[in-house]
Amino acid sequence: MESGLDYYSARALLEWQIELGATEAIGDAPVDRYALPDTSPKPKTAEAPSAASAKLKDVDPVAIAGSAAQGAKSLDQLRAAMEVFDHCELKRGARQLVFADGTPGSRVMIIGEAPGRDEDREGKPFVGRAGQLLDRMLAAIDLDRRENVYITNVLPWRPPQNRDPKPEEIGMLKPFLERHVALAKPKVLVVMGNISCQAVLGKRGITRLRGNWDQAMDLPVIPMFHPAYLLRQPQMKRQAWADLLELKARLRGAT
Ligand code: URA
Repeated sequence: MESGLDYYSARALLEWQIELGATEAIGDAPVDRYALPDTSPKPKTAEAPSAASAKLKDVDPVAIAGSAAQGAKSLDQLRAAMEVFDHCELKRGARQLVFADGTPGSRVMIIGEAPGRDEDREGKPFVGRAGQLLDRMLAAIDLDRRENVYITNVLPWRPPQNRDPKPEEIGMLKPFLERHVALAKPKVLVVMGNISCQAVLGKRGITRLRGNWDQAMDLPVIPMFHPAYLLRQPQMKRQAWADLLELKARLRGAT
């Protein structure tokens, strides 16, 4: 398509969109959404609530997640229970469930935030650029997901446009995360970034929390910078390295 833009203007426009958070090209031509017919839901005229909608109101997704999670007696059963859990909107926008990767039963379990585009495509956590950095970080302390690390995320479905997870989404899916940890039986948890700190420790402020051992789900927990943050702020790798050494020292003492 001839846009009339020179190379430098086109590049500047593209960079500006990336800066705003655009991650994918969806169509070749722009869509003027103001010119499209209004398909937004219209307010309903007053009518007696149907039995079905009254029933829907009674549904407590957190309780449903809790009993589904508790019913799972193995990681395979947990994955199956999550596959059929239909109460989280994120599931509808995602390609597939991203359950875990690595070696179940490892001493180290890493908890990231949520799948991104690459993870959504491949069905495994941390396979994109951040995941590749994570692999290099782990290798620096002789850890490898194929042998001695187990990896999952707070959320198993990719949020639209990689937006931050909402507190209600985290709360709804937390019973699955807790059961995941209980079934994987790690010795230590590594929580990467603010979202994971919030979900697991109930605290935010990764810059202050990182590198300090805490306790949750009956396990020692170490918060670390998220590798995606380290890609943006490479000068923070020095602190991340210190945290990795702290983890390594702890593992030396762990049975
Ligand atoms: N970031 C995460 O937190 N998790 C992934 O799986 C990928 C990127």
